[in-house]
Amino acid sequence: MEERLAALLATARQRLAAARSEDEVRQVQVDLLGRKGELTAILRGMGALAESERPRLGKLANETREAVEALVAGKQAELARGALDRRLVEEAIDVTLPGKPLPSGSLHPITLVLEELKDVFLGMGYDIAEGPEVETDWYNFEALNIPKDHPAREMQDTFFITDEILLRTHTSPMQIRYMQRVAPEVPLRAVFPGHVYRRDEDATHSPMFTQLEILAVDRNISMGDLKGTLLTFARQLFGPDRQIRLRPSYFPFTEPSAEVDVSCIFCNGAGCRACKGTGWLEILGAGMVHPRVLATGGYDPEKYSGFAAGLGLERITMLKYGFSDMRDLFTNDLRVLSQFKGVRA
Ligand code: DAH
Repeated sequence: MEERLAALLATARQRLAAARSEDEVRQVQVDLLGRKGELTAILRGMGALAESERPRLGKLANETREAVEALVAGKQAELARGALDRRLVEEAIDVTLPGKPLPSGSLHPITLVLEELKDVFLGMGYDIAEGPEVETDWYNFEALNIPKDHPAREMQDTFFITDEILLRTHTSPMQIRYMQRVAPEVPLRAVFPGHVYRRDEDATHSPMFTQLEILAVDRNISMGDLKGTLLTFARQLFGPDRQIRLRPSYFPFTEPSAEVDVSCIFCNGAGCRACKGTGWLEILGAGMVHPRVLATGGYDPEKYSGFAAGLGLERITMLKYGFSDMRDLFTNDLRVLSQFKGVRA
């Protein structure tokens, strides 16, 4: 019996050394230690032993079982380590390889220009505010000194929702909303960016476009302040050599009113195709806030004055980045947009 136990241990060693998989190890375990296995068979012979021999051989049988179990456990651990090592080799990642480039988007050119404009005006101490695109007739027209039968209404092909509710045709209603919010506090300096809507569409007009309204109210604000502010703005946006000029014009909500040109950014004033030979590019409308508009906003026109201006971001963007068709700003063609990759506001 001793020999058989020794032989069993030897078999265990040999088979486990040769085993290549966890299944094989489990088979060795079953064959040798299982209910119908080798050890069970050996123990069945215990009955034939002399009474005095049983304790010693019983102990030896137990030790043999423990020894085989230890070998099995050792082999299992070895296989597991091997599997891990293989996986580590197979699944190794070379972290020094260059990564796959992920497709990245870009900021829209109008966003770029808007951020630049905000920076310019924040730098001059202006607040930035936004308001509703669905407006009342009163804020969009009436409060801006454009009564119902006023011809100026025809200049702005309006999308009406009801008789009194419309899509704002300009950001000027924000002049009123903002004045009403802060009046009679001065100084008031604020810009109002946002979308506006008009029934119009061709290469230079879109039914939805973007404006920036500029408003300053204080004691003794003059046309000189307006001019200085616009010159600063034009030079920051289009370069330090820019000149501006004001041409008399008409808007119901400003008096006097002006159309403002910047010296052509392409030919520097010499005259070219972009400026139609004039040397000047029109960039915005402006003027001194009409006393009636000031009063509606809550400012006594005897005490306070102000200037206002409104510009179209699409036009500025087209000039700055050389777009000739405004629709290219809205079709979101990746061949156009991807050219702005990496350009930061
Ligand atoms: N609201 C005008 C428009 O959309 C633009 C404008 C002109 C705004 C003169 C102003 C201004 O603030 O003073 O046509």
